[in-house]
Amino acid sequence: MPFRVRIDGKEVILEKRTTILNAARRAGVDIPSLCYDERLQPYGSCRLCMVEVKGKGLITSCSTFVEDGMEVNTETPEVVKHRRTILELLADRYPAEAAKLDTRLSQLLRRYGVEAKGAEDPRLMDERHPWISVDLSRCVLCYNCVRVCEGYIGRLIWRTLYRGQQTIVMPETGSLATSSCISCRACVDVCPSGAIVDKVMASARPTSWGETACSMCSLSCPLRVGFEDSRPVYVEGRRDLLPFAAECLRGKYHWEDLVYVPERPEGPRLRRGGRSWSRASLDEALGVIAEGLRKATGEGGPGSVGVIVSSRLPAEAYYLSQLLARAALRTNNVDVASSLLPSFSELAPIGGPLSTLPLSSLDDVDSFLVIGPLEDYHPALASFIRRQSLQGRSRLILISSEDDKLANAADIHMAVDVRRAPDALRALRWRPPRRDSWTWPRPPSCCLTRPPGPLRSGR
Ligand code: SF4
Ligand code: SF4
Ligand code: FES
Repeated sequence: MPFRVRIDGKEVILEKRTTILNAARRAGVDIPSLCYDERLQPYGSCRLCMVEVKGKGLITSCSTFVEDGMEVNTETPEVVKHRRTILELLADRYPAEAAKLDTRLSQLLRRYGVEAKGAEDPRLMDERHPWISVDLSRCVLCYNCVRVCEGYIGRLIWRTLYRGQQTIVMPETGSLATSSCISCRACVDVCPSGAIVDKVMASARPTSWGETACSMCSLSCPLRVGFEDSRPVYVEGRRDLLPFAAECLRGKYHWEDLVYVPERPEGPRLRRGGRSWSRASLDEALGVIAEGLRKATGEGGPGSVGVIVSSRLPAEAYYLSQLLARAALRTNNVDVASSLLPSFSELAPIGGPLSTLPLSSLDDVDSFLVIGPLEDYHPALASFIRRQSLQGRSRLILISSEDDKLANAADIHMAVDVRRAPDALRALRWRPPRRDSWTWPRPPSCCLTRPPGPLRSGR
């Protein structure tokens, strides 16, 4: 049954039940919000999204569902007075310097003409993390960082300390740099006050954007690339396809190591006679390649040539290389020089070129068996598995080192030296011999740190 709602005099017809805030957005009415993020469950901590509903008074629009026939007013004098009071309370502590930036809070302060009066407190600033700056004097206690890190990423980095006026959020160890943060940047993405900031983005000024697929692992996450003067300066996950920008350190930050390495040739080079390389034009290099391929295929057929592609290229280059090999040269001899990645990461069968399965196809998996430090090679897949396990949707059996970053999410952790993972796999097949046997082999040296239990509730 469709819902008919009137928001600021505009009639909105909704096919599905949704919150007042979302209904208003659909009607083009902008209700201010600070703690609301459509990717998280509504929490209702900031109270800035208050609206007046006929017959009900002031209520938070981010956490209240519409009802058929509801009449909502979003900017009555009482609503505006309420919002200004909240903003003035926040502005008392919010640093004036931060109010000049383009944060969600500073935009609201400008919109309602409220002046920030606080000052930055060096004791609350932390620049030790390589990618993320923290300035908790800007924090407005919306708890988005706590909720996204715990509920979505499966880490418990952000903690709430003290009570009442003294309440503060802090990383578990006092500093992100010494915490078990995996640099996924999800907390940066949801912080509305600029208290947690991406250092790279803070200095980058992209003037145009493009889209690509990450080639750092076989998941091929969809990415947006920001360019300044045609040079890539910033990378983030596509928000329409990845809920929190991106979850992977490699895709977001390590592209610089690939693009801006000094050894990278900036144009084609040829060996003319001797062993040394000399610069060549693209046309000249292509001419030499075409000539060589024509000669080789003429003499030995398509199977006598092959294409080996650098592993330091964008995903589009791999697609074009396949086309060149299979469609133009008529050979299946095409491969990637994978010296960049350990060979077993190439085997990951989900989401990558070896499979058409997206990550979401793992939603219904009962149990994952992870061998080795998955977090180091497939951070996005590791985050997915951690979340599934912590939310009780799947069981996680981990065979890896004692300090593996997935250990806190594992139901069973077989702590072994990763170099001995094959022994651990053999041990899984170990069965005690019959009681009347002469010899009694030693049990495997690896240990079960947590006993296998039933699948947790919440499934
Ligand atoms: S970057 Fe990711 S892992 Fe680190 S604190 Fe933020 S949400 Fe948690
Ligand atoms: S640091 Fe940012 S996201 Fe976390 S509670 Fe403070 S304002 Fe909210
Ligand atoms: S946005 Fe609704 S309470 Fe914060």
